[in-house]
Amino acid sequence: MDIPGYGLVKGEWDLRVGVKSYLGGDSVNFKGKRVLEMGAASGFLTFTMEKMGADVVGYDLSEDFDWDIVPFARLDYKEILNSRRGHLRKINNGFWLNHKANNSKAKIVFGTVYNVPEEIGKVDIATFGSILLHLRDPFLALQSALRLTRETVIVTDLPLTEVKGRSIFRRRLNVQGAKMDFLPDYTKQVPIDAWWRFTPGMIQLYLGVLGFENTVVTHHTQLYQDKPHELYTVVGRRTKPLPK
Ligand SMILES: C[S@@+](CC[C@H](N)C(=O)[O-])C[C@H]1O[C@@H](n2cnc3c(N)ncnc32)[C@H](O)[C@@H]1O
Repeated sequence: MDIPGYGLVKGEWDLRVGVKSYLGGDSVNFKGKRVLEMGAASGFLTFTMEKMGADVVGYDLSEDFDWDIVPFARLDYKEILNSRRGHLRKINNGFWLNHKANNSKAKIVFGTVYNVPEEIGKVDIATFGSILLHLRDPFLALQSALRLTRETVIVTDLPLTEVKGRSIFRRRLNVQGAKMDFLPDYTKQVPIDAWWRFTPGMIQLYLGVLGFENTVVTHHTQLYQDKPHELYTVVGRRTKPLPK
């Protein structure tokens, strides 16, 4: 990201060129909208949406909360949780540095996705940028945020494609054809911090249950370590109004 006063800071993902499609393309207008951004990280999307006219409330873990680490019995779970908390402190610091550099008015609330506080109040749009794959219970995370969301939800995630190594593991266990693929491979104890690949259809089913029955799926390419990777975005519109 380009940080005013600091210049270009490199990261694993470079969403600068494709950010519009990452956020659902022309079908979503952020101007004047109150947005709840799930998994704000160091704020690249926060400040981008703010520049598009949104009033953003970010939401993320801090060092007081635990990441949904995969509890592989052969690994030291407590040690991994602790080192992740140190990592979260750095990410949170990045957010505040960016916040200041961008002269931002965005807010951020810290907690786990499963307990989004009612006190945030109602929002027009909720975004889930590459976060559901990291969650043990993605449905509960959606439910927790969408109970406050009046109009639109934007979910961006990685597609369900066979990954070398994982497919071998799958074949051995004879588990195939799921629309939601369970990533943890206990024969290699990886990944420790990701759980799922979903087809866009899976996300559409989740959203439909929660009252967002009108959905549109788009596919786009983003840069990961300077190489193009395909992602998808599901934009869901609320068809069952929020109870008063
Ligand atoms: C891969 S980053 C995505 C950042 C950004 N939304 C984007 O699309 O570029 C995932 C974010 O979700 C947050 N996260 C992961 N698990 C979480 C949880 N259980 N509760 C709240 N936030 C979580 C992480 O701290 C991280 O900032």
